[in-house]
Amino acid sequence: MGHVLKPPPPDQSRRLQQFFAEAGYTEEGFVAALRTVEPPLPHLRSLPRLLDLTREPTVFNTLARWFLAGLPVDAGRARESTPDWFRRTCLESGLLFSDGEALVPTSLLVPSGKFLVAADLYQRLLSATDFDHVLTINPAARLLLDFTIRRPSWSTLDLCAGCGIQALAAAAHSQVVVATDLNPRATAFAAFNARLNGCENLDFLTGDGFAPVEGRAFDLIVCNPPFILAPTKRYLYRDNDMDLDGFCRALVRQAPRHLNEGGYFQMIFEWAQVQGQAWQERVAEWFEGTGCDVWLLKNYTQEPGWYAQIRLRETPFRSQEADAAGYDEWMTYYRGRRVEAMHGGLVAMRRRSGPNWLRIEELPESLHPPFGQSILRGFEARDFLEAHPSDEGLLACRLKVAGEVRLDQEYRWSEGHWRTVAIRLRLAEGLPRAMGLDGDVAQFLARFDGTRTVREVIRTLASEVAVDPARVQAESLAVVRHMVERGILLL
Ligand SMILES: C[S@@+](CC[C@H](N)C(=O)[O-])C[C@H]1O[C@@H](n2cnc3c(N)ncnc32)[C@H](O)[C@@H]1O
Repeated sequence: MGHVLKPPPPDQSRRLQQFFAEAGYTEEGFVAALRTVEPPLPHLRSLPRLLDLTREPTVFNTLARWFLAGLPVDAGRARESTPDWFRRTCLESGLLFSDGEALVPTSLLVPSGKFLVAADLYQRLLSATDFDHVLTINPAARLLLDFTIRRPSWSTLDLCAGCGIQALAAAAHSQVVVATDLNPRATAFAAFNARLNGCENLDFLTGDGFAPVEGRAFDLIVCNPPFILAPTKRYLYRDNDMDLDGFCRALVRQAPRHLNEGGYFQMIFEWAQVQGQAWQERVAEWFEGTGCDVWLLKNYTQEPGWYAQIRLRETPFRSQEADAAGYDEWMTYYRGRRVEAMHGGLVAMRRRSGPNWLRIEELPESLHPPFGQSILRGFEARDFLEAHPSDEGLLACRLKVAGEVRLDQEYRWSEGHWRTVAIRLRLAEGLPRAMGLDGDVAQFLARFDGTRTVREVIRTLASEVAVDPARVQAESLAVVRHMVERGILLL
């Protein structure tokens, strides 16, 4: 299994965390000093800049060279910029070792929220034994963190936990978290990270998919699986042994058995579009008969050539010939399966008895993270509409405009006046989906203040317009239902 980190005792872990925080080794500190939180992965070609920015022997710079860049720091500079107890603790825990002249890091240590998260050095990807490489936090992991519904959970599962970041984040709102991974090195990193960050309500299990938690059910399952659509079985963190997107489909099919009633399965994943079938139709089949309400948010679409190039570029460059052979292998795989495009996105499935719904839409481009609360609200809005199927039921409700709703008005100059050309409603938090609407509808919505019933608001409107009241009511109720579903109107 190679190098294993030994968690420092709790008081030393706290001291380490405080030391990193005071040195500005935090997400905010990274952005301020380096404009990025990404380690200098080879394909980003960002190492020269990082070395230049960290040339002064300050504490932050030395920490960044060790634990962000994964580079040795000579003993003199290490002594000059860090205290003895710190180096001793890092040596004892195995985060650093001495090669005589320099102190050499064994792992990355990346800040994420209030956590410091250890994972493999990217340099390990260049070795012959990199199959079980444990990935550091990347944009997919961050998106899943932002998407996760953070309500109290009795039991949470982080499936395909890797370095354990999802499990750490879930620990704060869960009674117990179980983190599972096929790779024992990942489980070891996750266990180290839990101890380093003082999280005690986590269990770690090693095994394939749901096998380690057979017979157990959870309130929340979060999953960032190896979802890449690749012909290769090169890296555990990225590849899986099923065809195309079969692994993610299998997780979707198995997840409901491990959910308590009302529990959520939230996954980031990719899926294929094959010739002759709309992607919505293909992916919709995955969820049939699962006993879950499903909300799928598509984030991006790529054509196979572009996708293969991007994915291949994420791994170390070996030679032009290897690149050409790799690209050819990936494209042959896609052509053989008539893959037209790849889509990436997020899914939230909620186990619920009764007739279930499936909602497929695009993830808004500019998100205001975190947006897990908006996802929960979306499910609750559906529940509300289902609980009020009749007009009479809805007319008796007292709804109000959500606090985060904003109305934008766009004007165009014309003949000495500013004329309104568009009115848009949007949510200023979470999923900021904008919708165009008519000025009259905007005024109508403004009347929902939580004190008057829907019936009263509609009656007032009907008394002001010369239109059949029955028609006003029917059209208004359609607007109300739409606005509830979109999170604009709340109970
Ligand atoms: C993309 S990494 C996710 C890491 C982490 N959850 C995160 O969000 O950063 C995928 C993880 O899935 C694990 N994995 C691969 N195949 C698996 C399987 N069949 N069952 C369980 N875990 C698996 C890999 O070892 C890897 O740690």
